[in-house]
Amino acid sequence: MTATAQFQDRLLSLGLARVSEAAALASARLVGHGDEKAADQAAVNAMREQLNLLDIAGVVVIGEGERDEAPMLYIGEEVGTGNGPGVDIALDPLEGTTLTAKDMPNALTVIAMGPRGSMLHAPDVYMDKLAIGPGYAPDTVTMDMDPAERVQALAKAKGCTTSDITVCILERPRHEQVIAAVRGTGASIRLITDGDVAGVMHCADASTGIDMYMGSGGAPEGVLAAAALKCMGGQIYGQLLFRNDNEKGRAAKAGITDLDRIYSRDDMVTQDVIFAATGVTSGSLLAAVQREPGWLTCETLLMRSKTGSVRRMSYRTPTHTV
Ligand code: FBP
Repeated sequence: MTATAQFQDRLLSLGLARVSEAAALASARLVGHGDEKAADQAAVNAMREQLNLLDIAGVVVIGEGERDEAPMLYIGEEVGTGNGPGVDIALDPLEGTTLTAKDMPNALTVIAMGPRGSMLHAPDVYMDKLAIGPGYAPDTVTMDMDPAERVQALAKAKGCTTSDITVCILERPRHEQVIAAVRGTGASIRLITDGDVAGVMHCADASTGIDMYMGSGGAPEGVLAAAALKCMGGQIYGQLLFRNDNEKGRAAKAGITDLDRIYSRDDMVTQDVIFAATGVTSGSLLAAVQREPGWLTCETLLMRSKTGSVRRMSYRTPTHTV
């Protein structure tokens, strides 16, 4: 890459941070207002408006849903000015709509961008996920291990006992057996009520104290989490879960033929990507949007997998500019 091309790539990444922060600032006024839909809509509107100002010829591959169910930022929607590189975009304008409505931790706005064909076109179905942080040999933990075996294998690789391991899991009735099996090893569990993109990202940030993520959640969120770990380091595996023929049909529409495939991080995100996330509510990765009379401040994490660079940016702006 020439110096000019590198500079353009970096500028584009800063543009992506702007898109992410605009969505967070727009939804911030709805934090704690009990209205998931309104908060999501505010984030979608702002993200779309900013994205369309970016000099890219972008296509949404992970978005708000299929065209007939999402009026904006639907899968296949073309975004950007059209003057610039052809890119794929994966986004979740508000990851944690309920967290936002209830002012609970770790609601984020999330967006990733890579060359065309760089990200799995995951249908809107569930995905079984397993993730660990950086520094471990490939396949230290695998999908075919049961939950207890995963904890034991990770403890061995980390050189600690199973009671030193913390696993993050979404608190859902469907995870009762997984939770019991992990507890049976003596490991701790950080239960989260929503927001598994942040849940997976926790594994790659030692300060969170989380070693491993497991359990099922949205497949689109799985690809976004894979994009984050591509930048931060760490491993994630995902397997799509289908509850009926309609969901299998969604996979076929997305071009997926092997319904049982286990995807690694690099199967889900095959080329270098840029990833940006902004905190909406307070969290272990990012601060909340802070409101003070006349001003808003937000914190954005911007990462490029090509270099492994990580930028944290704090942005304070007068309320009337949002
Ligand atoms: P939303 O922001 O769309 O509400 O999604 C939040 C979330 O918790 C995701 O992080 C997770 O992947 C998914 O929902 C889990 O789905 P479910 O609530 O059906 O278990």
